[in-house]
Amino acid sequence: MIQCWRLEDARQTLVIGVRDKQLAEVVYWGPRLPADENLETLCAAHGLDVAGGMLDQHPELSICPAAARSFQGQAGMALRDGNGKPILPKLVFDQAVAETNALTLSYSDQANGLSYRAHFAIDAETNLITTWAELDADQPINLQYLAAPVFPAPQLSDEMIDFAGRWCGEFQLSRTPWSAGMRSRDNRTGRTGHEHFPGLIIPCRGATNTQGEAYGFHYGWSGGHRMIAEELPDGRRQIQFSNASDTELAPLTYFKTAPLFVTYSDTGLNGCATAFQRHLRDRVVTWPHPDRPRPVHYNCWEAIYFDHKIPELQAIADRAADLGAERFVLDDGWFGKRDDDTTSLGDWFIDARKYPDGLSPLIDHVHGLGMTFGIWFEPEMINPDSDTYRAHPEWVLGDDHQILGRHQMVLNMALPAVRDYLFDRIGKVLTDYDIDYIKWDHNRVLPSPDADQTRGTYDLLDRLRTAFPQVEIESCSSGGGRIDFGVMEHTQRVWLSDSNDALERLKIQHNAALFLPQAVTGSHIGPRVCHTSGRILDIRFRAWVAAQRHMGFEMDPRELTDDEADVLRRVTQWWKDNRDWMRRADILRLDAADPAVLAEQHLRQDQFVVFAGKADTSTQIAPRPLRLTGLDADATYRVDLANRDELARKGLSRGQSPLKTGPIEVSGQYLMHHGITLPWSFPETMWVIEGHKI
Ligand code: DGJ
Repeated sequence: MIQCWRLEDARQTLVIGVRDKQLAEVVYWGPRLPADENLETLCAAHGLDVAGGMLDQHPELSICPAAARSFQGQAGMALRDGNGKPILPKLVFDQAVAETNALTLSYSDQANGLSYRAHFAIDAETNLITTWAELDADQPINLQYLAAPVFPAPQLSDEMIDFAGRWCGEFQLSRTPWSAGMRSRDNRTGRTGHEHFPGLIIPCRGATNTQGEAYGFHYGWSGGHRMIAEELPDGRRQIQFSNASDTELAPLTYFKTAPLFVTYSDTGLNGCATAFQRHLRDRVVTWPHPDRPRPVHYNCWEAIYFDHKIPELQAIADRAADLGAERFVLDDGWFGKRDDDTTSLGDWFIDARKYPDGLSPLIDHVHGLGMTFGIWFEPEMINPDSDTYRAHPEWVLGDDHQILGRHQMVLNMALPAVRDYLFDRIGKVLTDYDIDYIKWDHNRVLPSPDADQTRGTYDLLDRLRTAFPQVEIESCSSGGGRIDFGVMEHTQRVWLSDSNDALERLKIQHNAALFLPQAVTGSHIGPRVCHTSGRILDIRFRAWVAAQRHMGFEMDPRELTDDEADVLRRVTQWWKDNRDWMRRADILRLDAADPAVLAEQHLRQDQFVVFAGKADTSTQIAPRPLRLTGLDADATYRVDLANRDELARKGLSRGQSPLKTGPIEVSGQYLMHHGITLPWSFPETMWVIEGHKI
């Protein structure tokens, strides 16, 4: 017997079929099927032929591949009973609950006392499918892993793209050719990690940023993920995502995966990117003030580090406000006796040596300048040199053998006493002062991964958000060490990287745009001499790179020359003039013919802006035209340089390109298929091109 369901939006159809009460299979996932497609025929046609040297029937590549069905790859779950004996689930179909745009499939295994549910929901506006699995057991069992519903990967694909990285070098694309066997990633850091952003893109052959087919995956969990991309002996391919394995440390009777977000695109990698960007911005994140413009930030970390002096901070605030900042964020160093990073994490009491009258003198000053005030915490961490540790050594996670990270240990967030303490301390600061923002840091890996830690952190974030709904929270973890849709359910911004080097940032932002929209992605203009690379970059390049995302400043503004301050004021004003439509725009990565150019197009309805960053010296002498994307081919666009005033500084350009003197009006077809020819420019510069449909 065959039962089938279809979930779809304007661009894709997902067909799920159950045959003979076995675990369901994704029998089709791709461009939208005709309305009258016979799904039973599809399910029947899905079966593969059998030849020599095979089992008599192909085991289902199901939503939870079953070892008990002689499946020859990684099974969808791995369990042991209370005595440590492996359990081989034999799940039998019970029922389906199909609603508009949602489907739940239920299974049970009476002999082993298990029941399993797989959930699917499609969002017709964002084009993202959200799916997750649950498992109930009659008796406490040990879970090694439980995959979110498993998807087949396309055959006409030569490679997969997943993500690696490091401190100051997040979102590096890692391309792996498909071959027999599996690529497995099992993140043991206990946090999302710079090294392990939980995303995967499978481009079909020939796909680029702007064209071709691609499949996108993201697992929304901050405790570390496990990914399997496997080509089976029979050639079929499967994609599994779950929590990192062996992170449920106690036997339990209920388990739930984090949500896995997936999408199919027929507009290249950008189709995946726009689905993720829109869904994160419009569905996952909840904004305290959805209609309030994103404020320009000033963050004092790279200006003063731990050396907090109220008059200096006030002087810095004066200059930041003059440049256009609208929110002043007081970073690490205001509490305990925190004069360096060896001490005081956990002692969330204002340092009376630095702030004898509390934070009011600074906060009042900041408010007087028309800025709001934000503050840094690193709640989950503790220094052994802290009063809190001396009073509660039992609050620490892990044992004595662990190696400290940045001189600190991790608090056990599963302990209610720890969460209560942190809620009280953070709550006191938020109650005593008018604060609208927390930068929530997390500067080391866990001693060993533990799913309870992530659940505890989410719980604390929820409690604080309920008690202080007006406060926005930024997820920071030595820069981009905790970026995922799980933490973004509880926060509104990510600190993408500790690298304020605009050249590095350009690259990190470009790749992060595969998942992250402008509205949540922090980007700051750092000091003239970059503190993490030593590089010296012109203020114009630094300013425009920050203007690509949620803009801010992080240098000591007293170092700025008049010219630099003037540039910052102008670019900041440009950003303010454009921020409202840009926060709702899609960020589309362009296929630049010149590999030295990293370019993206922010597109919303009839308006766009292109940032064409010159990341390197071009091999050819003349600029290659840059093709745009997503435009109306038959419409005419007025296209202009937003930073024409920088022409004289961009080097050797001496030709007659019309864009040098004014806007041009050309068709969308021309822009998308010939491309726009930009004036010559030095490396480490940016052209900013604005376009409007006429
Ligand atoms: C790491 C963060 O990424 C930095 O921005 C800064 O907040 C420091 N921690 C403070 O210790």
